[in-house]
Amino acid sequence: MKALILSGGYGTRLRPLTYSQQKQLIPVANKPILFYAIEDVIEAGIQEIGIIVGPNREQVVEAVKGVDWDATIEFIHQGEPKGLAHAILVARDYLGDDDFVMYLGDNILREGIVEHLRHFKGGNFDASILLQEVPNPGQFGVVELSKDGKTIKRLVEKPKVPPSNLALVGVYFFKPVIHEAVASIRPSWRNELEITDAIQWLIDHGYRVGWTKVTGWWKDTGKPGDILDANRLILDDIKTNIRIKTKARIHGRVVIGEGTGIDENTVIKGPVVIGRKCVIRNAYIGPYTSIGDNVVIENTEIEDSIVLGGSEIKDAGRIVESLIGRGVKIINGTSHPFGRKLVIGDNSRLIL
Ligand code: G1P
Repeated sequence: MKALILSGGYGTRLRPLTYSQQKQLIPVANKPILFYAIEDVIEAGIQEIGIIVGPNREQVVEAVKGVDWDATIEFIHQGEPKGLAHAILVARDYLGDDDFVMYLGDNILREGIVEHLRHFKGGNFDASILLQEVPNPGQFGVVELSKDGKTIKRLVEKPKVPPSNLALVGVYFFKPVIHEAVASIRPSWRNELEITDAIQWLIDHGYRVGWTKVTGWWKDTGKPGDILDANRLILDDIKTNIRIKTKARIHGRVVIGEGTGIDENTVIKGPVVIGRKCVIRNAYIGPYTSIGDNVVIENTEIEDSIVLGGSEIKDAGRIVESLIGRGVKIINGTSHPFGRKLVIGDNSRLIL
């Protein structure tokens, strides 16, 4: 059994962060989203992993190679991203005649994939998919089940009129027959080879497609709000681990990395994760905040937010529900004439 983890695509819904960084490398609780997928696959006992890379492939290769994984990892270049089924086409030689799990590198599942893999193997299915009820099925692939609720009748990608509220989670198990399916389908209206169409092909040709429901939480981190949601969910499960001495007032579950300095005028209310070599002075760090390495925060209140490595936030008042990129400088430039002084990248979102 192999794994194919997808870490390509442009991540347009996460601009401007994704202009300079691959979306699957954005950290949640200070760990790249992609690493959660790799860990789930390894936990399921799979030791051969192919990672599909695209526009920022060097970044992904460097980040993944920086960790000593208990698996053999190869990188497969997709070129232009042309859909999930296209990723399987590109990985044809790597996958050979093995069964495999395809895992979208921007999805996070609290309970991993062990139980779902067991179902796929035990049921002798040709493919098996993961489903979860969602309030907004039009934004996902959606299934229609048979009347008795046992088998999948139909799959539709981002339907205008969803046949149910059961969305496809970004984890799929396949036997090698999927290669015949992806070679047989045509691009959709959005000019992508859709995995939903390939699975529909299997159903239409009499192959057995099983499904399991995801019981714990699941997040597709396509948009900034989803990344903050995933951050809250992960921080809900952290355990205190403070690697420094500080006189700051600390409440709740908090992780602080080595080399970080936090003064006695600072208050931290967990769950909070703070990286290494940060400087935090006269600040309030509130619940559900993740702060990367080498970050400076002074005279500022921040809560329910993600700050990536190397950023500096000084005299910034109160910051909430924010996603702040790498190397960002937020300073209070109050001077005359009074007004906001901004240098903002394309497609940024500022809520003032
Ligand atoms: C993709 C799939 C969709 C699935 C979703 C899960 O959508 O096309 O069927 O429900 O992943 O994350 P995308 O996130 O590429 O829009």
